[in-house]
Amino acid sequence: MDQITEIGTILEWYLSVGVDEALADAPIDRFETSKQVLARGTPPVAERRASPASAPASAPSPGLSPRREAIPPGPSAAEAAIAANAREIAAACDDFAALEAAIRAFEGCPLKAGALNTVIADGTFGAELMLIGEAPGADEDRLGKPFVGRAGQLLDKMLAAIGRDRARDAYIANILFWRPPGNRKPDPVETASCLPFIERLIELSKPKVIVLLGATPTSTLLGLGDGITRLRGRWRDWHGIPAMPMLHPAYLLRQPPAKREAWHDLLAVRHRLLD
Ligand code: URA
Repeated sequence: MDQITEIGTILEWYLSVGVDEALADAPIDRFETSKQVLARGTPPVAERRASPASAPASAPSPGLSPRREAIPPGPSAAEAAIAANAREIAAACDDFAALEAAIRAFEGCPLKAGALNTVIADGTFGAELMLIGEAPGADEDRLGKPFVGRAGQLLDKMLAAIGRDRARDAYIANILFWRPPGNRKPDPVETASCLPFIERLIELSKPKVIVLLGATPTSTLLGLGDGITRLRGRWRDWHGIPAMPMLHPAYLLRQPPAKREAWHDLLAVRHRLLD
């Protein structure tokens, strides 16, 4: 095999396993980083429970039932410092324009360096229904809008099925504002750095109902660690706002029979919106 063919074969292999961006000259072992983060201690549950961006970090979260056994290990000191800084910045934002500018200027999330765009939200700020996914994928990163790829197209159809138009009747965002390379799961530092901003976005937009699309927003915002297939379909409470964990549209694309459960949950959401 000549050198060019060999390089081509290696690149093809990278693509096939989801490595589709060159971010740095040297590789970073994310498994090692996560192991280190997890090894750095576990603060008390009350500290770990995410409070909205405008509340002091130690404030109890109203309405969230304590599920100690299900909460993942807590933040390291570095993670806590980044999160505290993000919370301070987010809390100082009193409207969407200020928050948007603050998110765009924020340098505390390591993913920003490798992303093409900052992806904040789509739809109508202030809509009754707010949907929160995990993180931008390749299409979202390219276009700077959440849920515009295949999963987003399915999401549009799901919304249409309950009489909601994505642009007019919904507000759509993600836990992360920057794409994780290769669409890998966000790590705890990335999540902690974005959380205060997404919480502030929810607070400012004041939805009547929140839909949590998949495991990441469910565990991050509600502190529930059980699998999404067990958590979906039951109303929870996010600081006084009803929140419905649902299966992620990307999962529904891979597992079409699960659309039955999604339909059940969507009907519950429609019902709640009409209350
Ligand atoms: N998946 C998500 O969770 N969010 C997006 O924006 C796109 C796909």
